[in-house]
Amino acid sequence: MVQIALPFDLLNAAHPWTLTLLTVAICTVLLARRLWFVRGKLHVRDIPGPVDNVSWLYGNLPELLLSRPYGKFEFQWQEQYGSIYRFKGCFSEDLLFISDPAAIRYIFNSAKLFDFSPNRSFIAFLIFEKECIPALRNGGEVHRRIKNAFSAAFTPARLQPYVPVMRDISRKAADKLMQKYLEREPNDPNAAVDIYHLLQHVTSDIIGEVGFGQQFNAVETNGGDKVVQSHQNVIMLGSRPSKSAILGETIIPYVPRIILRLMLRLPTRTVRTLQSFRAVSEAWASALLRDSLHLSEDSTDGGLVGFVVSSNKNLKHERLSFSEISRQTSMFLVAGQETTANALTWALYALAKQPIWQDQVRKEIIEAENSESSLDKLNYLNAHIKETLRFYPTGPLTERMAFEDTILPLSRPVTTISGRVITELPIRKGQMIHVGIASYNRDPHVWGPDAHTFNPSRWVDDRYDSGDLPESIGPYSNLATFVGGARMCLGWRLALLEMQVVLSELIPKFRFSFGPGQEDSVMPSFALTLLPIDVGSEKPSLKLLIQPTQPYGG
Ligand code: HEM
Repeated sequence: MVQIALPFDLLNAAHPWTLTLLTVAICTVLLARRLWFVRGKLHVRDIPGPVDNVSWLYGNLPELLLSRPYGKFEFQWQEQYGSIYRFKGCFSEDLLFISDPAAIRYIFNSAKLFDFSPNRSFIAFLIFEKECIPALRNGGEVHRRIKNAFSAAFTPARLQPYVPVMRDISRKAADKLMQKYLEREPNDPNAAVDIYHLLQHVTSDIIGEVGFGQQFNAVETNGGDKVVQSHQNVIMLGSRPSKSAILGETIIPYVPRIILRLMLRLPTRTVRTLQSFRAVSEAWASALLRDSLHLSEDSTDGGLVGFVVSSNKNLKHERLSFSEISRQTSMFLVAGQETTANALTWALYALAKQPIWQDQVRKEIIEAENSESSLDKLNYLNAHIKETLRFYPTGPLTERMAFEDTILPLSRPVTTISGRVITELPIRKGQMIHVGIASYNRDPHVWGPDAHTFNPSRWVDDRYDSGDLPESIGPYSNLATFVGGARMCLGWRLALLEMQVVLSELIPKFRFSFGPGQEDSVMPSFALTLLPIDVGSEKPSLKLLIQPTQPYGG
C-alpha cells in the first residue's frame, strides 16, 4: 500500500523569514481563490455530517486522523449519519466521507473520473520520482503499461517458488523469538517480547528475497543494511501524525513549485532524509537491474523485479524503459514491507486476545503439517487472516478527487438536510472524497450485526465468504483492504502468502498472550498505516508473552 505524506517541517523549520512570509502570503491568496471556487459549486453542502462547531483551520481532520483508537469518531459518525456524510477539512473545505459499497465500487472502477489529488501524486513524485506507479495518472497509458508488466510477476505461479525462502526467514524469526524467550528474566513471568519490530525485519527480508533476490538479513542483524534503513527512514517521515502535518499536507499543493523546489534544498531533517533515500535507492536499483539483465525468465535469482527485467527484454510492444522499472523497486520496498508487517502484527495481537481460537488455529496447522496439506486449505488460519484484514485494514483510509462531474450510485438512500431522499449523489469536478476502507469493512449492512466484533468464525461458516463475485469490492473476499480497480494493490497476493507462511511457522511453535495491562497499552493508531502504538512510550510496539509449545530444539 502506498500512502505517503511529508511532515510539516518540510515547509516549516529553520527557513529564512522572508521565504516563510512569502510562502504564507502566496498560499493564502491561492487557498482563498480555490476555496471560493470550490464552495460556490458544491451540491454536497446538503449532505448531513458532523460539521457543526468544528475548527475552521483543521476541520474534523484531527478527530478522524489523530483519535485513538483509530475510528473512534469515524465509526460513531458512520452509525449516526450512515455510509455517506459530509465533514470538514482544513480551512472549512467540505469533504465527503464514503463507505457505501456501490459508491466505493464506482469510484474504484472509474479510473478516468477518480484519482489521487494532485497533492498526493506530487508527494509520491517527490519521494519516488515521476515514473513510480502511485505518481502516475490512474489507468493512464503509462500506469496501465507498467502495472500490466508487474502484475505478470505477482501471479500465484510466480510467487509459489518463493515459499521455501519465506519459510527459512520465518524459521530464523522463530529462532530469534526462542532466543529472546531464553534470555528473559526467568523469575519474571510477565517478561514480554516486542513482536512488532521482529515482524518488520521478517517482511524486509521477505520482500528483499522475493522482490529483488537480495538478502537484507534484517532478522539476523536486527535491522538490515543501508538500503533497508534508508527506506525505513522514509516510511518514518510519514508516520508522525500531528495537526501541523495535516495542515502541511493541505497546503503543499498550493505552494508554487518554484518555492517547493527551493525548500527542497534547505538543510532540514526531512530534506536530508529524502536526499539520502534517493541517492541510496537510485544506486541500489540501477545495480539490481544491471545484474538482472542476464537472467532468464524462469530464474528466481533476481526476484520478481528480475523477472520483469528479463521478460521485458523480449517484448516488442509495450516495453518498459530502464527507469520505468527501476523507479518501482524502492516503491515496492516501501509499499510492501511495513504494510504486511503491520497486518502480521495485528494477526498475532488478535490471536493473543482469543486463546481458545488460537489453539484451534495451531491444532489445524500441526495436523496439516503431518498431511502436507496446502496453505489455502487451512480454514482456521485463513479465516483468521481474513478477519484481521477486515478488522485491522493496514490502510484504513484513502482519498480520491473527482476529475469530472459525475453521479455516484448509492446502495442505500440518503436523506439530505433539506429533506430530499436521494438514491444517487451528484459530484462536482474537484470534490475531495475520503474512502472509508475501515468503515466499509465494518458496515453492518455488509457484515451483519457483529460487524464491530473480531469474529473469525464468520469466515469458517461461510456466511460472508461469497467468493469474489463481480459486485465484490477489491480482489479478496469482498474486503476493501486492497482497494480495487486500476489502483488495486499490486502486491495483495504476495501479502497474503507472506501472512500464511509466517503465521503457519510461528503459531505451532509459540503460544502468544498478553501480560497484565499489556492488552490495554496498545492502541490502533493511524500513521498512514494502522500501527499498534504503545500508549506509554508513544512508539509502535506490540509486547506479547511467548511460551514455546515444545522444548527448545524439539
Ligand atoms: C497487507 C499488506 C498490504 C495492504 C493492506 C496493502 C494495501 C494497499 C492499498 C489500500 C493500496 C491502494 C492505496 C490507495 O489507492 O490509496 C495499495 C496500493 C499498492 N500496493 Fe499494497 N498493500 C499491501 C501489501 C503490498 C505489497 C506486499 C506490495 C508489493 C510488494 C504492494 C504494492 C502496492 C502498489 C505498487 C500499490 C500501488 C497501486 C497503484 O497505485 O496502482 N502492497 N496497497
